[in-house]
Amino acid sequence: MATKEYIIAPSILSADFSRLGDEVHSVLEAGADWVHFDVMDNHYVPNLTIGPMVCQSLRDCGITAPIDVHLMVEPVDELIKSFSKAGATYITFHPEASNDIDKSLSLIRDGGCKAGLVLNPDIPIDVLDGYLEKLDMILLMSVFPGFGGQKFIDSVLEKVTEIRSIINDKELETRLEIDGGIKLENIREVADAGADTFVSGSAIFGQPDYSEIIQKMRDSLEA
Ligand code: DX5
Ligand code: ZN
Repeated sequence: MATKEYIIAPSILSADFSRLGDEVHSVLEAGADWVHFDVMDNHYVPNLTIGPMVCQSLRDCGITAPIDVHLMVEPVDELIKSFSKAGATYITFHPEASNDIDKSLSLIRDGGCKAGLVLNPDIPIDVLDGYLEKLDMILLMSVFPGFGGQKFIDSVLEKVTEIRSIINDKELETRLEIDGGIKLENIREVADAGADTFVSGSAIFGQPDYSEIIQKMRDSLEA
């Protein structure tokens, strides 16, 4: 079971990009904890989004909340360096997109950021062997990355439970984040499986009232 506070991290992939600064301010004022920042390169995933300049712009316009940069890019090292300079708080990457996972994790730490690995739904958890103690966060994808608004893949719940028990057994401080298809109707079930950090894009930005949906998610988590 999660022993830490729950974090809600709206994915700005589903925000209105023509008003991105306002959207991010609004969702944080509405009670979000972090900003989840999806970086896609049209190579590792078949979509293209935003880069370090946009992260820096959010910092420059007064966003002080943690920015959780999810790299869906290959290779990763140059963007790790750029994002750490651009104000990222967490940087996570997919292990198969790195030539040298230890080196990429060190680059994140050297840049003053917290580091995490991301596992796609079909990647087994033994990929984490040898890295667990070096991670501030494990991000489990509950959809195949590339697009917002996809359906949660239920079989990932087993993986959440397995990783939660490893984290607890080893008494690690690692956050366990889940990303893809999280909404009011399933957030509690995913928390019960052991996740403590919840990315949610379309289910938050698709609502007219961000405060109302975030409060409902929190009520569901804490009920
Ligand atoms: C998927 C991204 C997710 C996505 C989540 O590739 O990593 O962060 O934006 O969006 P929803 O919550 O709509 O599934
Ligand atoms: Zn993401």
